[in-house]
Amino acid sequence: MTEVLHKVVDETRQGEAYAPFVNDPNLFSKKFYIESYGCAMNFSDSEVIASILNDEGYGSTRDYEVADLVLINTCSIREKAEQTIRTRLQAFKKVKEKNPGMLIAVMGCMAERLKAKLLEEERLVDIVVGPDAYRSLPGLIEETTGGQKSVNVLLSREETYADIAPIRLDSNGVTSFVSIMRGCNNMCTFCVVPFTRGRERSRDAVSILNECRVLFDQGYREITLLGQNVDSYYYTGADGIDVTFAALLESVAQIDPLLRVRFSTSHPKDITDDVLHTMAKYHNICKYIHLPVQSGNTRILQQMNRTYTREWYLHKVARIRTIMPDCGISTDVISGFCTETEEEHQDTLSLMQVCDFDMAYMYSYSERPGTLAARRFTDDVPEAVKSRRLAEIIKVQKDNQAISYRADIGKTFEVLIEGNSKKSENDWSGRTTQNKVVVFPKGDAGLNKADYCHVKIIHATSATLIGELV
Ligand code: SAM
Ligand code: SF4
Ligand code: F3S
Repeated sequence: MTEVLHKVVDETRQGEAYAPFVNDPNLFSKKFYIESYGCAMNFSDSEVIASILNDEGYGSTRDYEVADLVLINTCSIREKAEQTIRTRLQAFKKVKEKNPGMLIAVMGCMAERLKAKLLEEERLVDIVVGPDAYRSLPGLIEETTGGQKSVNVLLSREETYADIAPIRLDSNGVTSFVSIMRGCNNMCTFCVVPFTRGRERSRDAVSILNECRVLFDQGYREITLLGQNVDSYYYTGADGIDVTFAALLESVAQIDPLLRVRFSTSHPKDITDDVLHTMAKYHNICKYIHLPVQSGNTRILQQMNRTYTREWYLHKVARIRTIMPDCGISTDVISGFCTETEEEHQDTLSLMQVCDFDMAYMYSYSERPGTLAARRFTDDVPEAVKSRRLAEIIKVQKDNQAISYRADIGKTFEVLIEGNSKKSENDWSGRTTQNKVVVFPKGDAGLNKADYCHVKIIHATSATLIGELV
């Protein structure tokens, strides 16, 4: 028995969340259980899948042992992510051995990468469905009624699920993701995403704005616009008007000043001054940019096909700070990419010192079959060296972050309350515009979830600010 209905174990973002999502059992004759792994895009897709299943008469359950359909939305970004999924499948398969009527569906990036091979490798899996084929899920379920297996891993150049109203699964009722594009055309050599998610395509701007408006009307106060490369968003509407990412961001910000807007992820080569000026112009566009650098060395960046140099990246960071001096910046870093020397690794450490990131996701390189790097280069940095370099990267980040958080002591921030703090029901937890978590006593101020308030910081750890209401 498990209490988890929709568990998001975020390999990429290292987050974890549990969804208190319950449906009226009188309305639905069958039950599904869903778990999501990987990035926010997968989480967002699971909400689309839940909507498709609701329409098919499936309600949700928190207990996979009683589910008619168990779905696992998978990630392939690193080998470890796939190992985690295989371990999880073992648990589901044990239940299926007792209850052969239960269907197991593998969705997402691992389904796309391994395709029908997954059915040979994981014998009790019934359905394999890739990220662009979720509309076919009811048909695939139907196909399995005679005990057959079913697969649909076709990638699409058009699918954006624009017309499907997602069912919010892991919701605190305050913050939500809204997917604005799918796929990626960038072909970074280390990355499996272009192969698992297909070509880049942007979602109809009108449907994005409608979804954001509905969320605001339902009481949500923060939206994160999602895409692998949001700055290349580009949509030509039926009226012939072209919508850039800056224009979309502005339109979402204009829905209501009380609606905070964030976005992720930006590619350093694509984020424009237009976007930065739009951010600066609107108080409700959060002053926070996730700008993955991957490496601080130009030769390695070229080998990664990131299409920018160390100097270009440093210039971008300087530009952001010129236009928005109070903007938080975070990054992704990979240690030990193919042929990386000790000096080149030192360049990553020095770049991190210069940029002074507020937060970073740090990984050691994991070769992914089929990627350009796997085909062209040798994964020649020994695991022990990758790990040691990663530890050095983490140390620099931790030290810098502690300084960055301590520097906030004495300052007052506007905070959007997201709910109780993890440790105490007597404390609220929320975030600043720079995306830093703030915990503070509720007192008798009569505040509620989704309210804005001002908090003065009195103490800081390396990942949380502790304050008091002003
Ligand atoms: N599209 C975003 C970008 O380009 O910044 C993020 C893509 S990916 C989902 C998130 C992060 O995973 C990347 O920024 C990179 O740091 C990391 N990553 C991707 N492939 C990897 C690999 N083969 N080994 C280790 N880390 C990897
Ligand atoms: Fe992967 Fe690069 Fe695309 Fe990001 S931009 S998803 S790292 S290929
Ligand atoms: Fe993983 Fe696919 Fe996202 S590989 S990080 S779930 S796009």
